[in-house]
Amino acid sequence: MWRSGKHEAVGEEKLIDNEIDKFLRRLSCAAIVIASLTLLFLFLRTPDTCVPHHAPRKPQLRFPKSTCDFSTRLHVPAEKRSLRIRSTRLWKTKVLSFSLLFRDLRLLHNHSRVLCISAGVGHEVDALHRLGIDDVTGVEILESPPLVGRADPHNLPFFDGAFDLAFTARFDEALFPARFATEMERVVRSGGACCVLLAECGENEVREVVGLFRNSKFVRSSNVSLSGIRMTSILLRTMDNSS
Ligand SMILES: *[C@@H]1O[C@H](CO)[C@@H](O)[C@H](O)[C@H]1NC(C)=O
Ligand SMILES: *[C@@H]1O[C@H](CO)[C@@H](O)[C@H](O)[C@H]1NC(C)=O
Repeated sequence: MWRSGKHEAVGEEKLIDNEIDKFLRRLSCAAIVIASLTLLFLFLRTPDTCVPHHAPRKPQLRFPKSTCDFSTRLHVPAEKRSLRIRSTRLWKTKVLSFSLLFRDLRLLHNHSRVLCISAGVGHEVDALHRLGIDDVTGVEILESPPLVGRADPHNLPFFDGAFDLAFTARFDEALFPARFATEMERVVRSGGACCVLLAECGENEVREVVGLFRNSKFVRSSNVSLSGIRMTSILLRTMDNSS
């Protein structure tokens, strides 16, 4: 009785051991399956955070959720931004001011090739377009697409005599005025014109500026108002620069 009882207990113990074994085996199988599925899932799935699903409607009002969330950095395309700027009243006022100035030069035709140097964001380029002149090139140290491209005024990337008129409204901001003037007249054909605007000044300063244009003849200077700012405009005619 005692014996058989012990036997029974041992038998029961074995049975329990077996059950635990089976359970553990099942558990590890399940663990392996779950781990594999998780790996597969991670492998197939591209991380959400680095892929912008949709552009937020007001990017400037959203803050990045993580370091690789670049949806806030979506820039408004330059063209669109430029269109927006060009529809403001300030822009239109400045463009109108330039239009009047160009009209008063009385030397432009529809087919004139015009270069605007140090053109900023391109008011003068826009004004020339509106006057019906197609061949207008605007350059500035920092480009401002689509109206203004990038070029150093002291080293213009254009052929000699490529333009009929070279214009700048920022001659007094030139780092090297003599070099600026030389480049300006180089890219204008002989018989073409250079027109520079600078802060309103007297005759002596005008004479100084004219002296920098060694290949041109002084035509006239006048005091003008450019969207309320008083400036002096100097017009020069380029001589034959093949010599
Ligand atoms: C260009 O041509 C149009 C008509 O085709 C004319 O209205 C305009 O004044 C012209 N512009 C210049 C600068 O000659
Ligand atoms: C332009 O204005 C200045 C004073 O600001 C004057 O000295 C100069 O004579 C004026 N030039 C012309 C061409 O009227």
